[in-house]
Amino acid sequence: MNRATFLQNTALAGAAVLLSSLESFAKEHSKIIKVAIIGCGSVSNRYIPHLQTSSLVKIVGLCDIIHERALGQNKQYNVGALTFSSIEDLLKGVDFDLMLTLTDMQMHGALNRKALMAGKNVWSEKPLANTYEEGKQLVDLAKAKNIRIWGAPAVVTSPQFEFMSKTIQSGKLGKLASAHGQYGHTGPTWSSFFYEPLGGSMPDLGVYNMATLTGLLGPAKSVMAMTSIVNKNREIDNKGIVEVKEEDNAHILLEHENGIISHIMCGFNYFDPFGHEAKNQTLHSIQIFGDKGNMRLIGYDWEPKSVVLDTSWTNPPETHVTDDQGYQWQEGATKIATSLSTNIEPKIHVLHSLHVLEIIEAARKSSKEGIKVPLRSVFPWPMV
Ligand SMILES: NC(=O)c1ccc[n+]([C@@H]2O[C@H](COP(=O)([O-])OP(=O)(O)OC[C@H]3O[C@@H](n4cnc5c(N)ncnc54)[C@H](O)[C@@H]3O)[C@@H](O)[C@H]2O)c1
Repeated sequence: MNRATFLQNTALAGAAVLLSSLESFAKEHSKIIKVAIIGCGSVSNRYIPHLQTSSLVKIVGLCDIIHERALGQNKQYNVGALTFSSIEDLLKGVDFDLMLTLTDMQMHGALNRKALMAGKNVWSEKPLANTYEEGKQLVDLAKAKNIRIWGAPAVVTSPQFEFMSKTIQSGKLGKLASAHGQYGHTGPTWSSFFYEPLGGSMPDLGVYNMATLTGLLGPAKSVMAMTSIVNKNREIDNKGIVEVKEEDNAHILLEHENGIISHIMCGFNYFDPFGHEAKNQTLHSIQIFGDKGNMRLIGYDWEPKSVVLDTSWTNPPETHVTDDQGYQWQEGATKIATSLSTNIEPKIHVLHSLHVLEIIEAARKSSKEGIKVPLRSVFPWPMV
């Protein structure tokens, strides 16, 4: 064996030793997180396959009040979980670490509370609860029980969000003044809860822009809003015509620190040829303006494509972060499971979700009473 071959072989052997010791380190120091999912409808088709990509996650329970849906998802994704038709049976019937709440929005607060009471960590689809007060009680309950709760969306984990946040923090845009976000489509047809009281386009759609703009610009101090119902009736699959009882059209103004104002518009009556999936949207949905530069997020904030940055009077705008670096909007629960397993704090913060919940409630009050509504909640900022 000559010297070069010797060095090559020992380097390979060293790498092999390193790799196996890393694997055993990971095995020793990280724990498999047992996950139970409540609500086996549309969005579970995104969550289950994503969770299955992680070696740190095992889905052990599936629950839906329509039990066939739990059975169906168990079979379709070859999960091998126990199935249940009530949260009580789920909590009694299988041992797990983290519950994912993917039910109708109106049920989240009550289900999250039951899981926390039983000592389970929670990842909740939006909203975290129906009111700010209810959400705050959940956060306090989790703290008292030394467990955790987190809420969707996961927009702050995208590389485009990170780029925008760091660009703002670096001062490249100068003094910030204004921002705008928009998100809408022609509305879900598969369930009526979106149009029932405490449903609506703000907790379903506006929530993404609220998380993005407060995440970038800091907590809002006050809210003014106008909301309306444009379509009085909707046709729902397997249900026929239902009356729309919650807003399907909303404009929200947020007042941040230092005179910065942002605006969000969302609704269930926005024609977008890319539809609910919106994957191929190539126009921007978020704009941030300062006196030295501006930024546009291409695509929707939950499905971002790139960021266009303009800081020059003479040069054309530059396009940044065209690589998604593996980010997917449905990754929140997988990130949280990884965090529980490794004890590394995620970027998603429950006080941010709670702040967004307070904005939604305040926007409804503002629109109803024609007033500016002050906010109480804050969250650790900047986020990245
Ligand atoms: N569908 C999407 O693409 C999507 C994307 C992002 C977020 N979300 C959010 O995910 C949540 C669920 O939306 P969806 O579109 O999957 O709705 P869906 O109607 O398709 O599914 C909800 C499921 O929850 C079940 N359920 C209701 N109450 C329950 C209870 N008490 N116990 C157990 N199961 C119960 C229903 O039977 C139904 O199967 C909502 O908060 C929504 O905003 C949905």
